[in-house]
Amino acid sequence: MSLPIAQGSITLDYSDQKFYARYADRYAEVSHQFLQSIYIESSHPKLTGDLDLIAHLKSLVRSKRGLDAGCGAGADDVYNLCSNGYDMFGIDAITETIDTAIRLHPEIADRLSIADLREGLTFPDSSFDFVACNGVIQHIEPEVVKKVTLPELCRVLKRDGVLQLMFKNGSGVLTIFDKDYGTERAFQLYDEQELLLWWAILDLNQ
Ligand SMILES: C[S@@+](CC[C@H](N)C(=O)[O-])C[C@H]1O[C@@H](n2cnc3c(N)ncnc32)[C@H](O)[C@@H]1O
Repeated sequence: MSLPIAQGSITLDYSDQKFYARYADRYAEVSHQFLQSIYIESSHPKLTGDLDLIAHLKSLVRSKRGLDAGCGAGADDVYNLCSNGYDMFGIDAITETIDTAIRLHPEIADRLSIADLREGLTFPDSSFDFVACNGVIQHIEPEVVKKVTLPELCRVLKRDGVLQLMFKNGSGVLTIFDKDYGTERAFQLYDEQELLLWWAILDLNQ
């Protein structure tokens, strides 16, 4: 099946933010039941779904203090990693996603907060051994990712830290009908080489 790809980039008009606010409970359910956690196509044969992503992250990190940037409704990864002895924090731009996560996992309430990755973060420099930012930059404009989001993630990460960035690959904007939610959704696509270049420049300047 080919999917329609619109030209240009999204001007974030908060429609995605409205989506996550409106469907926070449904998102937590979809995520908890692993309904969308198997990837249809991925960049590596061993990357078949969300569980591989977390397993790979665990295999890369040497220390346990981490940030899940855009942790999603339910904050399942924050909860699971905390349960496995990781010193995890989670942030998300949408109040409803954090409220849902706290309702489902009250024991990690003090580790979750609201923060927008299009703005500066309040964490001090070099706070984390690793940062996971999975399925999030697809909701942020490229100029903002380049000028704010990546520099901020780089700043809060320790010098030899690990950044895990999962994103939808390509160029332009992908529009799909999401049957799990019964609504149309748009995602900003990113080119892997371009992101690596942006990151390399940040790393050089650090
Ligand atoms: C597809 S979900 C991914 C959730 C989680 N990272 C995962 O892998 O399951 C995208 C999340 O990014 C959040 N998000 C979107 N734009 C954001 C922004 N500018 N700053 C922080 N979070 C954002 C949404 O609220 C949503 O919870």
